[in-house]
Parts: sequence; structure tokens; C-alpha cells
Amino acid sequence: MNRIVVTGGKRLVGEVRIGGSKNAALPLLFAGILTGDVCVFSNLPRVSDVLQSLEILRFMGARIRFHRSGDVEVDYRELRPVAPPASLTSAIRGSVYLLGAMLGRFGFAALPGAGGCDFGNRPIDLHLRGLGLMGAVEVPTEEVLTLRAAEGLVGCQFRLPLPSVGATGNLLMAATAARGETVLSCVAIEPHVQALAAFLRAAGADISPFEEGTVRVRGGAPLHGCHVTVIPDMIEAGTYLCAAMATGGRVMLQDVVPEHLGALLWVLERMGVRLQIRRDSILLEAPERYRCTRIETGPYPAFPTDLHPQMAALFCIGGRAVGEGSVRERVWQSRFRYTEELRKMGAAVRIGGEEARFVPSPLHGAEVRSPDLRGGAALLLAALAVEERTEITNAATIGRGYEHLEAKLRALGARVRVYG
Ligand code: EPZ
Repeated sequence: MNRIVVTGGKRLVGEVRIGGSKNAALPLLFAGILTGDVCVFSNLPRVSDVLQSLEILRFMGARIRFHRSGDVEVDYRELRPVAPPASLTSAIRGSVYLLGAMLGRFGFAALPGAGGCDFGNRPIDLHLRGLGLMGAVEVPTEEVLTLRAAEGLVGCQFRLPLPSVGATGNLLMAATAARGETVLSCVAIEPHVQALAAFLRAAGADISPFEEGTVRVRGGAPLHGCHVTVIPDMIEAGTYLCAAMATGGRVMLQDVVPEHLGALLWVLERMGVRLQIRRDSILLEAPERYRCTRIETGPYPAFPTDLHPQMAALFCIGGRAVGEGSVRERVWQSRFRYTEELRKMGAAVRIGGEEARFVPSPLHGAEVRSPDLRGGAALLLAALAVEERTEITNAATIGRGYEHLEAKLRALGARVRVYG
């Protein structure tokens, strides 16, 4: 996916089935390493980050079979403790999960580099501190981050200074293989982190429920293969709700977990939207005009940072949005690069520190460049709202996280074409 061309101005109407969560799928695929067995994944989204993860596993010796049913079977039995090439790992952030998973299985982990969306600095100091407490030692090498736990991992107590999703995932994986008990507190409790814990439990790990941000793992029991269904992607779901808003549309999401979207649904209701929420579906009927509001992102259950740019795009759309909107970004301070591109479409944005303010103004088509996955989604929403033609380049960033994007949008009536 290189370019997306949109001629907007059409109301999106219809149903859309939400796919499996990218940010749940990535840790599950790497956690499978710990089982040294065969795992079957249902509802695995076919997005580039997932396909790249499968390539990494294949390079390391995993055998992968795509079943006709859509399930993906990964056989981890012959996986070797080797460092995958940087060209594979540095394209995605999920490769960071190799650290906990490989250490747990082999007492050795090597990561030539982890990539993902560019938000400036993306440190992994908390992953390394926790793994260090479990006995992993960094081996100084020139380019490849290499960790060894010669005597095997041991349980530890670690209070994370902030609830990092990636660090929580890595430490949970390592803890299942560590001797004795590990107590992790101030952990991330995002649905995709909970899904990782559920997968590890299904594979035989002894992991307590998450209680007030604390989780206990009694490690050391051998894990076995299992079958897991990836949870629905709450960010994809939220993006389609925003697309309905941007176009004054009426969209029914199928296969969602509304509870995961609590913060977004609350904000949408504050903006004057009518929602019909059922067990696994949400119907959104957008009003002709909606009120802008203030949002502040934060770790789950607060408003998700991965829906910030999409919501900001809604605040920019003159003729629909009323009042002034603002976003305070508390997770990724440099997540505002998309605003430069929205300005090219006529958006009125002011940024001060970690807050951006938006005044609705008449938008127009333009040639814009997607800076990252969700920033690109914001540009797409703005493009869907304006009648003129918009061309979004660097669209591969968007393909990292939205499955069957063109088909889903077209089925809702959008005039959109994906090239490359
Ligand atoms: C995950 O990234 C997601 N990626 C991101 O989604 C998401 O934005 C983020 O969680 C927050 O929800 C994947 O799951 C693959 P973090 P992750 O560790 O794990 C700081 C998307 O659009 N931090 O929770 O890398 C860090 O700088 C993507 O789908 C440290 O200081 O995020 C940030 O400010 C983009 N030291 C905050 O914690 C560390 O060792 C949260 O990061 C680790 C993190």
C-alpha cells in the first residue's frame, strides 16, 4: 500500500466487521515461542505488522501454515536461538517481544533493532530493568542487543515506574519461564495485555488475575501449544466510528467488544452522538453537527493514545464540528506530526507542549504524507469528509494496522482507491 486516493464528501452507511487486534496479535505470536509447540491462531489480522512477525518467526525456524478456514498454525518446535536480521525486526515494534520470549525459552535473546511508528525516542529501559532483575545480563556487542541468563531466569518483584504495554508483555512472558514467583505492579491493563495473559494461562502458565495493577506469576511450569482467538481490534473499531462521524454517516460495527471502547464511547456521547450498544455490536448514527470537546490520553482505561489523531481530525472538520477541541497527549509527546499534514488540508491547529487545540475550519483536498499509522488514519478521516480529491502518500504506514481497508471503506460507500 503506497498511496491512497480519496474523493470524500459521501456519507458512510452500512456494516463493517472488525478484525483481530494488531496489538494483541503481535505479543501472542511471539509468546508462542515459549511453548516450543504448535499454536493455532484464529482471527489473526492480515496486516503488514503481523505478516512481518510471521516472517521473523519463519526465519528463526518456525513452520507456518495458513489454513483454509483463515486460522494460522505456527509450529515453534524447531525454532532456533538465532538473531533475525535487522531488516526484519526494525520494521516493527512488536519484535521487542522477542526479548522476553527468547529469554524464557533459550536463556538467550538477540534483537538487532525494533522499529514501529516514529514518535521520536521509544525507550525500552523498563523492559531491560525488569529482565535484569530476573537475571538477564546484557552482552556488549556492536549492534545487536543481546541478553543472556546463563543460570536461567529467576522470579522477581518489580514495580514499573509507568504502565508500559510492551514492558508488561515482555516481563509476563519471561516470568512464566522464571523459577519461583514474580510480582509485577503498576502494569499495563490494556485488553491486549490481558489477552496475552489469557493466552499464557491457556498454554499452562500460572498467572493471577490483574488486581489493582498487580499481577503474580508462578513460573517454571512447562508450557504447551494451544488454540487462541485474537480479540477484536478496538482501535480499528474506534477509527470506523470516527469515519462515520466525519461523514455524517450511519455505521454498524460487528464483532467488537464495546467495553474495550468505554472511553471513546463516553466522549462520543458527550459530542452529541446517538449510539446503540449491544453485546458485540455498536451502531453509530452521526448527527449533522457535533460538539468538539477536550480529551486527555492515558493508559487503559483512559482515552487511548492510538485514537488521539482520529479524534483530532474530527475536531478540524468545518461544517460538522462546532466549538473548539483539544487533545492533551500523555503517552507519546511527539505524536503531533500529523497536524502539519492536516494543516495542508486547511486545518486550524495550535500546539503548546503536550496539548493541541483545534478550531473547525473549511477543509479541502490536498496531497499529504502519512507520518505514522494513526496519524495516517486521521488524514484519511479528513479526506473522507471533503468533496475534493486527497492523495495520501507513505500509506504503507496505514497498512500496518488496518486490514482490508479499501474493501471495508468501499462497502460503506467511500470513494477510495489504494495503490501499490
Ligand atoms: C504499544 O507500544 C503499542 N504498540 C502502541 O500502538 C501504543 O501507542 C502504546 O502501546 C501505548 O498504548 C504495540 O502494541 C505494538 P508503551 P509500546 O511501552 O508498548 C514509555 C499503534 O498505533 N516507555 O506502553 O511501545 C514510552 O516512551 C501503536 O498501534 C518508557 O519510558 O508502548 C511511552 O511514553 C503505536 N520506557 C510510554 O512509556 C520503556 O521501557 C508508553 O509506552 C517503555 C516505555
